[in-house]
Amino acid sequence: MSAPRPGFIHPSAVIGEPPEWRDWTELTTIFAPDIASTAQVNAFVTIDAGIRNPTRIGEGTFLMAHVHIGHDCVLGADCELAAGVVLAGMVTVGDRVHLGVGACVRPEITIGHDVRIGAGAVVVADVPAGETWAGNPAKPLKSPWPGEGEIDKVHMAYERSLLLPEGQSELEQRQRAARRGWMGDLSHP
Ligand SMILES: CC(C)(COP(=O)(O)OP(=O)(O)OC[C@H]1O[C@@H](n2cnc3c(N)ncnc32)[C@H](O)[C@@H]1OP(=O)(O)O)[C@@H](O)C(=O)NCCC(=O)NCCS
Repeated sequence: MSAPRPGFIHPSAVIGEPPEWRDWTELTTIFAPDIASTAQVNAFVTIDAGIRNPTRIGEGTFLMAHVHIGHDCVLGADCELAAGVVLAGMVTVGDRVHLGVGACVRPEITIGHDVRIGAGAVVVADVPAGETWAGNPAKPLKSPWPGEGEIDKVHMAYERSLLLPEGQSELEQRQRAARRGWMGDLSHP
């Protein structure tokens, strides 16, 4: 396993500005962002202060240029947010999540661990762990792999194709087999 890359914050990043919230006043208590020491914060990233809690960036998380993280967002470890991603306030993101260029996420959305969000996606609903979503509004992408039910169907069809000579129905096959005495017990297919 390679050693974790050292974290950095680019000098042009703007960290801890007041939340972009109309009710905010100079007297409102705000919480400075909590950025893990191994997080990487690139040029022109903005990470707002929190209203209720610190806005958090997890260990090893990589924020590319022009990412905006709104107030009270919580990002897990080892995420990658590509250039121009916008998280509105109070978004929660799990570990190892990837967001493609220019994706944006509506306030108060939760994105589970190991999620991939496509470039340009507009996320307006919670995303369960492990899924890939894209589009506007973002929806789950169809898996390239068949589900378990489909695998069972293919398996059964394959087994039948091995058992049945071409052109014979299963019933014919069993009748012929019984006549020839291959199959003692016809109660089992
Ligand atoms: C969403 C993503 C992860 C899916 O990758 P994938 O699993 O390899 O999917 P595919 O490229 O095979 O595409 C599957 C389908 O989703 C569609 N699709 C893929 N990405 C899409 C996107 N961002 N928005 C809308 N539809 C998308 C494809 O057109 C395809 O549709 P079809 O089945 O009707 O032909 C990828 O396309 C993506 O957007 N990655 C982000 C890249 C990025 O910004 N990287 C940052 C680099 S610094």
